[in-house]
Amino acid sequence: MVKFNENYLNVKQSYLFSEIAKRVEKFTKENPDKKVIRLGIGDVTLPLSKSVIESLHEAVTEMGDAKTFRGYGPEQGYDFLRNAIKDYYKRNGVEIEADEIFVSDGAKSDTGNITDLFDINNTVLVPDPVYPVYVDTNTMNGRKIIYMDANSDNDFLPLPDESIKADMIYLCSPNNPTGAAYNKDQLKLWVDYAIKNNAVILYDAAYEAFIEDETLPRSIFSIEGAKKCCVEFCSLSKTAGFTGTRCGYTIVPKAITAKASDGTQMSLNQMWNRRQTTKFNGVSYIIQRGAAAAFSVEGMNEAKAMINTYKENAKIIADTMDRMGVKYYGGINSPYIWFECPFGMNSWDFFDKMLSEIYVVGTPGAGFGKNGENFFRLTSFNNKENTLEAMKRFETLFK
Ligand code: MLT
Repeated sequence: MVKFNENYLNVKQSYLFSEIAKRVEKFTKENPDKKVIRLGIGDVTLPLSKSVIESLHEAVTEMGDAKTFRGYGPEQGYDFLRNAIKDYYKRNGVEIEADEIFVSDGAKSDTGNITDLFDINNTVLVPDPVYPVYVDTNTMNGRKIIYMDANSDNDFLPLPDESIKADMIYLCSPNNPTGAAYNKDQLKLWVDYAIKNNAVILYDAAYEAFIEDETLPRSIFSIEGAKKCCVEFCSLSKTAGFTGTRCGYTIVPKAITAKASDGTQMSLNQMWNRRQTTKFNGVSYIIQRGAAAAFSVEGMNEAKAMINTYKENAKIIADTMDRMGVKYYGGINSPYIWFECPFGMNSWDFFDKMLSEIYVVGTPGAGFGKNGENFFRLTSFNNKENTLEAMKRFETLFK
């Protein structure tokens, strides 16, 4: 008889953003006349940029011609894209090799997929609040998870605690959901901790392109020693509007190893390559061509313009919080604004209040962990008109 993986019994009944979508759908069905504004899931609204679209069109044409048609591509990604990513890092002052880059359909999948390489008996360390994917995927595998408090006392940037022994550490900077970003000294403490404890840092850099403070690191690999202990995940979703197009990448340095039970140091780069060649057939050629255009200098200038538009929305939200006397975090090096729920409310009650009274959707902090219980997240990814309207409505809550 087939036996069920009972670790799934320990996973929350529904994924955070599915639960939100369910509640919003119910509300819109019952209130078809209300104009709902969505500042919940971090999903982009601006169309793909000119150079990306041109490149996608060219690739479609190639696929329609027998002379340029392509079937299966390399599981790791085409060289043209791996080199474009390498060059992008180089322009940002970080040297990585093309064969350390593995193209994927996004950071969400790979932060979960990477767990294939690690024994079940490793202890996982995550901040609380946390992007739920890290917790759910390790719970599905049955690993022990330890939470470290991220709160207003540490500016939502927890630092290593030598009394905690962890093997796999998830860090996300700029952080989802809090918008807080580690500086170089803080990340160096994490790298030192990982080296000392033979741990691996699984570093989610999906929001790196939102960093405007040039002193802040955009990649963990700008920290000395990181290539010995870190894997970095990144994505074009928020950088260049690829949430629907799907393209990301994972950097697994050749220097990083994990110990097998007979003492052999296994190369994670080789093992990730082994995993991908069996379980993944690569991202489509067309999408990779679009992604390569996004990483060009011109493509990145266009992406920057999109990000600046979202940043203007973040400022509209932040200014409203200032006017209403609501304490908030993020919004500068991040598309997210994370704030304390007003009126001493808990976050799901505040979610229901926002939806039913002003028809604005946000994300309840409780969905990211216990430290999010009294916090709420808004995104800057909607358009300016809707953001202004949502904030006008938000102010009415205080009247
Ligand atoms: C979020 O809203 O937290 C993100 O859009 C989720 C994701 O990137 O998967």
